[in-house]
Amino acid sequence: MTTQPVSEPRFVFPPWTNLLPAVSLVAVVGGLVGAIAGMWYYFSPKHTDVGYQPEQPVPYSHKLHAGDLGIDCRYCHVGVERSPVATVPPTQVCMNCHTQIKKDSPLLGAVRKSWEDGSPVRWKRVHKLGDYVYFDHSRHVTRGVGCAECHGRVDEMIVVKQVEPLSMGWCLECHRDPGSRLRDPQKDRITDMNWLPPGVKWEDGDAAIAAKRAEYGKALVERDHIAPPTECSRCHR
Ligand code: HEC
Ligand code: HEC
Ligand code: HEC
Ligand code: HEC
Ligand code: HEC
Repeated sequence: MTTQPVSEPRFVFPPWTNLLPAVSLVAVVGGLVGAIAGMWYYFSPKHTDVGYQPEQPVPYSHKLHAGDLGIDCRYCHVGVERSPVATVPPTQVCMNCHTQIKKDSPLLGAVRKSWEDGSPVRWKRVHKLGDYVYFDHSRHVTRGVGCAECHGRVDEMIVVKQVEPLSMGWCLECHRDPGSRLRDPQKDRITDMNWLPPGVKWEDGDAAIAAKRAEYGKALVERDHIAPPTECSRCHR
């Protein structure tokens, strides 16, 4: 059996063009791998600064003020229920107490300087989303999401530290199923770091607490018609 030579396009294109499919395949696969790596990086909940804990100009302790002294978060973060930003307190708020308490302490030097010359204390920002993301504290806090869900046990932190990734995947994880993360904004204190739903104690363990929270939250989702958005344009405006 002889094979008939079919058409011979061999000389129409120069021989090196035979390499083109291979080259473009490599490019496509390379691009795809790059894209997947990029997605994995951006959407993996770990890429964003968990553990970020900058040194602050004043050794201000949340553990002392919010934990031991029990000052409510809203005494200092006054915007949190009414506006997108929680706000960091001006020096005046510190001086409400520190004109009398520890008024000569060297640890309060930067606060006294600010008080005297009117310049703000240069607190370093810990949590920061990209400018292309819209986030509103009041909308979360007034719908029953406690500070601890997103910031952890701030009342136990001497220096504030970021404990959640604040990535898109992390936001969506709660938005798709907020039930087990909610409190009753009509009854429960949103700033209480030690809060548990009625009928369960810390000693009962994580599984019992999770089950009770899911049950408690499910009723709130129904009562308050809680429906966090998952459409891109709601967070990327
Ligand atoms: C007496 C005032 C005061 C009280 C009470 C207080 N804070 Fe703060 N908070 C500050 C100051 C000052 C800063 C900025 C310095 C720092 O990061 O420690 C801050 C920073 C923070 C930050 C980090 C902000 C950033 O830059 O990302 C979070 C989160 C926070 N507070 C949460 C809370 C929570 C939750 C509570 C209640 C359990 C609380 N705070 C109670 C004064 C206060
Ligand atoms: C649903 C999650 C969530 C809850 C609940 C939440 N925060 Fe935040 N918080 C964030 C995110 C995200 C940022 C960063 C915002 C940004 O960069 O625009 C932030 C930033 C902050 C900041 C620094 C920037 C600012 O807005 O002034 C403070 C202070 C703060 N939070 C305090 C609180 C306190 C106090 C509560 C409870 C009363 C609280 N947060 C509840 C997610 C949350
Ligand atoms: C409601 C009263 C109150 C407010 C408001 C307050 N503090 Fe304090 N602060 C205290 C008390 C009480 C102590 C502990 C004093 C002691 O150890 O005897 C303290 C201790 C301190 C110390 C340690 C001082 C030392 O020498 O041990 C620092 C630093 C400090 N506060 C910073 C701040 C800053 C910054 C603010 C404002 C963001 C602030 N405080 C707001 C009551 C307050
Ligand atoms: C622990 C749960 C939880 C986390 C985490 C969370 N959210 Fe929400 N989010 C909610 C709830 C609950 C609502 C209120 C839904 C309603 O009112 O029906 C909401 C509402 C919103 C809304 C719509 C309200 C508005 O202001 O337009 C936006 C936007 C939003 N969240 C953005 C974010 C972003 C961005 C993040 C991450 C940085 C985030 N959320 C993290 C629970 C969460
Ligand atoms: C619940 C709020 C929320 C929704 C809904 C949401 N995103 Fe995001 N997105 C975020 C947050 C938060 C980040 C990370 C911000 C950061 O790292 O500072 C992010 C990051 C991104 C990034 C990465 C940008 C970069 O290069 O770092 C892209 C791309 C993106 N979102 C696209 C989308 C698309 C497409 C959709 C709809 C399918 C969507 N997002 C829906 C909150 C949201």
